[in-house]
Amino acid sequence: MLDDVSVRRARTAELSHIGSLAGRLVEMHHRTDPDRFLLVEDVARGYARWFERELARREAVILVATRADTAIGYSYGTLEGRDWNLLLDAHGAIHDIFVDEAFRQQGVGRRLLEAMLRELEGLGAPRIVLSTMVGNEGAQRLFRACGFRPTMLEMTR
Ligand SMILES: CC(C)(COP(=O)(O)OP(=O)(O)OC[C@H]1O[C@@H](n2cnc3c(N)ncnc32)[C@H](O)[C@@H]1OP(=O)(O)O)[C@@H](O)C(=O)NCCC(=O)NCCS
Repeated sequence: MLDDVSVRRARTAELSHIGSLAGRLVEMHHRTDPDRFLLVEDVARGYARWFERELARREAVILVATRADTAIGYSYGTLEGRDWNLLLDAHGAIHDIFVDEAFRQQGVGRRLLEAMLRELEGLGAPRIVLSTMVGNEGAQRLFRACGFRPTMLEMTR
């Protein structure tokens, strides 16, 4: 358990590094199933730009886990309205959660996730949903441990 890690809202100056972590999350998905998960050029920089816009929005939450002033993980979630296509009423959506490989299995992911749940609930989310790759069992164990249950199964042809 790492006890010198802090989890808080991300600041503008950190977004470039957080964009790199997000790029690694995208690459991990693409490596696992390139027919389903896209990979674009300059993905880290694209993410950093997107997060900069999102930082200004009340409905968006970008959290960072830092150790010795370095970002070692992040999570990104948003407050969403009713979505008829998903048959899903107002909800919080957790889009990303990522911890640097060197710091995994030491409680950082759980702290990020619990902080994100508090933030989204604080914004009024009556339920919170997320999607995870079917084979990503480590992440699924974390999500179950924090109260998530499987509800939808995406299929790709
Ligand atoms: C998923 C991820 C965020 C977990 O972060 P982490 O800091 O390693 O997680 P924690 O140490 O807080 O683990 C909390 C719980 O999750 C489970 N868990 C996490 N990683 C696991 C793994 N690789 N295998 C088995 N269980 C795992 C365990 O139940 C653990 O509880 P325990 O410590 O009581 O056993 C991290 O592995 C990661 O960044 N993975 C790559 C990105 C990813 O898959 N993101 C999720 C999909 S969007």
